[in-house]
Amino acid sequence: MAVIAGNWKMHKGPSETREFFDRLDAGAVGKDHELIIFPPVASLSAAVSARRAASTQVGLGVQNIHWEDGGAFTGETSAPIAADAGAHYVLVGHSERRHVFGESDRETHDKVAAARRHGLVPVLCVGETLEERREERVDEVILRQLEAALPALGDAKERFLLAYEPVWAIGTGETATPADASAAHETLHVRLADAFGATVAAGIPILYGGSVKPANAGELLSAPHVGGVLVGGASLDPESFVAIARAGR
Ligand code: 13P
Repeated sequence: MAVIAGNWKMHKGPSETREFFDRLDAGAVGKDHELIIFPPVASLSAAVSARRAASTQVGLGVQNIHWEDGGAFTGETSAPIAADAGAHYVLVGHSERRHVFGESDRETHDKVAAARRHGLVPVLCVGETLEERREERVDEVILRQLEAALPALGDAKERFLLAYEPVWAIGTGETATPADASAAHETLHVRLADAFGATVAAGIPILYGGSVKPANAGELLSAPHVGGVLVGGASLDPESFVAIARAGR
């Protein structure tokens, strides 16, 4: 069972969201995979209604939350508001949040904690830049990003997902090789096992993200320690999203 998640980023308003669900043939994926979509927050309620109308099992999440539960934070979305609007998952620490909006490890910790307080399943994203990879600092960077969030996870008995998204592979057409992805995922898995024990760690899916397409999804999904994929551009088209899931059989 792999997790096939689509991060729509700042694409698709409510109309295009409804159109996506109208065209999504979730039945073609069968029960082998879990599908999750992260639409823009303004399209979440359209996604909730469209999903109901299409009778699909697709999980829904938001791409970001604020760490406070409420208050004077113009433009932000809190975990309780996201949950009330129908989100079940939340992306935390996506590389665009870290590198475009300057989100810190401390903030990702506080966002994971906020998600936990309100029953949202956090999907913590980690990943190194090209420069960090060239300097052979991949493990150091991704472990630091994971480490920052661990205190917010308690004993990690409640659901939690990790996503390894090398920054240089996002939106570039460059993909990590299955071996590179596996190596990073193993590093993360070993740290999770150390923190929470082997049984809990085995239940934490680690998704790969970065230019995943129908053509490369099969080999990535069959790589050791890859528990799913987090797809940007190729998740915007329902046929390509389903093709990615089907590649993972
Ligand atoms: P792309 O699949 O467009 O490279 O985006 C990956 C990503 O950032 C998913 O969160």
